[in-house]
Amino acid sequence: MFKKVSKAFLATAVTMALVAGSAVAGPIVIKFSHVVAENTPKGLAANKFRDLVKEKLGDKVVVEVYPSSQLFGDDKVLQAMLLGDVQMAAPALSKFSRYTKQLQIFDLPFLFKDMEAVDRFQQGADGQKLLNSLSKKGLIGLGYIHNGLKQLSASKPLRVPADANGLKFRIMASDVLAKQFEAVDAVPLKKPFSEVFILLQTKAIDGQENTWSNIYSQKYYEIQPYITESNHGLLDYMVVTSAKFWNGLPEDLRTELKTLLDEAIAYGNKAAYEKSVNDKQRVIDSKRTELIELTPEERAQWVEVMKPVWKKFEKQIGKDIIDAAYNANQAN
Ligand code: SIN
Repeated sequence: MFKKVSKAFLATAVTMALVAGSAVAGPIVIKFSHVVAENTPKGLAANKFRDLVKEKLGDKVVVEVYPSSQLFGDDKVLQAMLLGDVQMAAPALSKFSRYTKQLQIFDLPFLFKDMEAVDRFQQGADGQKLLNSLSKKGLIGLGYIHNGLKQLSASKPLRVPADANGLKFRIMASDVLAKQFEAVDAVPLKKPFSEVFILLQTKAIDGQENTWSNIYSQKYYEIQPYITESNHGLLDYMVVTSAKFWNGLPEDLRTELKTLLDEAIAYGNKAAYEKSVNDKQRVIDSKRTELIELTPEERAQWVEVMKPVWKKFEKQIGKDIIDAAYNANQAN
């Protein structure tokens, strides 16, 4: 008798719990926070992911995208992710140094000759291994989004390294980038992306480095009279999530989300390529700034002074992996 009552009681309790659970359980919410404008490679990839998830997964998962540092800047977003306040972000690869030194490889000046080489390295065995470089910190890399190669903008024309002497440049929070500017006797200042425009406008800094997409979408070309097409470094992103959130998802859902994210990344990467051409042209057409194209001799001078920075970080990053990245410049 006791057994019967207790079984019936249990069955009722389980049913009630399920009903109550389904009444309160809403969709899984993925807050995707980033710092750039929506019409940029990363902004477009994030929005595409949101739209694909809505289309394919209906009400099961909702992706909320927060662009332009509305939710978190890159200095806070990874901490917020570990606290469960945001589930996805895609900071620039230059902004992970508090979590791993390995990703510093992507900041080495003049390492990659073009974006095809970057792609070969990222999609190869070493690049894929780097997606796990944050695992000890509870973060998982889900993929890379391209933006492009960086250019130098400044208040004066920069043709040779000596032109940068004494100028203040805003950089992302990266020791490699600091050494890169110190190599040309400039003064690097680590500042959040959201402050760059105002720092340039008020002349608190003299210059900055960024891609055509960011120079255009952040309107730096309106307040910087010179842009040197240096293609000296890379600005790409890693899409990250917390291991706690990701591993807590049902396996089939995780697989579906990863497939949709890969599709969104491919979309963003196509936009990155188009923007590196079109946004550059828009900047030129604006006639607000002068484009400086380096002669091979001038460019060689920048390479000569900046490349020794590699050696300073060889121990932290690993010579083998630097060699692998450099070798990606040769197409197979
Ligand atoms: C970004 O593209 O996400 C920001 C890059 C920067 O901080 O310069």
